[in-house]
Amino acid sequence: MKVVVNTNEVISKMIAEDFIEVVNKKPNAVLGLATGTSPLDVYANMAKANKEGRVSFAKCKTFNLDEYVGLEGTHNQSYRYFMNENLFNHIDIDKKNTNVLLGVGDYKKFMNEYDGMIAKAGGIDIQILGIGSDGHIAFNEPGTSFDSLTHETELTEQTIKDNSRLFNDISEVPTRAVTMGLKSIMNARKIVLIATGKNKAQAVYGLIKGPIDESMPCSILQKHPDVTVYVDEDAYSLCK
Ligand code: F6R
Repeated sequence: MKVVVNTNEVISKMIAEDFIEVVNKKPNAVLGLATGTSPLDVYANMAKANKEGRVSFAKCKTFNLDEYVGLEGTHNQSYRYFMNENLFNHIDIDKKNTNVLLGVGDYKKFMNEYDGMIAKAGGIDIQILGIGSDGHIAFNEPGTSFDSLTHETELTEQTIKDNSRLFNDISEVPTRAVTMGLKSIMNARKIVLIATGKNKAQAVYGLIKGPIDESMPCSILQKHPDVTVYVDEDAYSLCK
């Protein structure tokens, strides 16, 4: 596991360059994407590079980590909406090649097909992850099996509280989600994780220094052969 400590501005540029390098080497690369506040500047940098002609996503396929159960893709807090607004509408990707788990309708069928779809596409070449303050990656909350594939899960009180900042009221935050599993994530060839801010410090400690234990889902990443953890000083503060 490689660790890079710098400002959000610098690490967001570095991660965008990681994606650009993968796509320039393999134009039909399969990209694993995350939502949340953490990757916002990464996506802005990827869109800028695309506009400048430094990279094209026209042949790429994407798979997102997760989606809230109960939200239509048109809901402004759904992860499909987030991805369209923050990345897909600003790059030359074909939306038909973008996959975000469904949260309504026949979402369970899609969820059960998801790992197979990723495998059929050739597997994920580069996966970006954020991290929850409780150590979750995607929506794999503490206690999730390291062997998990894409599944439906219940969000912890901590995650609901953390994410309520994006809703009008905490009562509007969905309590369930569909998420790629820890094994699905570990199958990615290359993983980059971004964490900033003091509220991520405990989780980052568990990620880098903690024992590998299902009570700290991110700790499984210590076993992956190609992970780079990008953090700011605040998120890294307990590791010094
Ligand atoms: C989102 C996801 C989550 C977030 C995590 C951190 O697709 O998989 O694990 O990465 O909850 O969220 P932010 O970046 O908003 O702090």
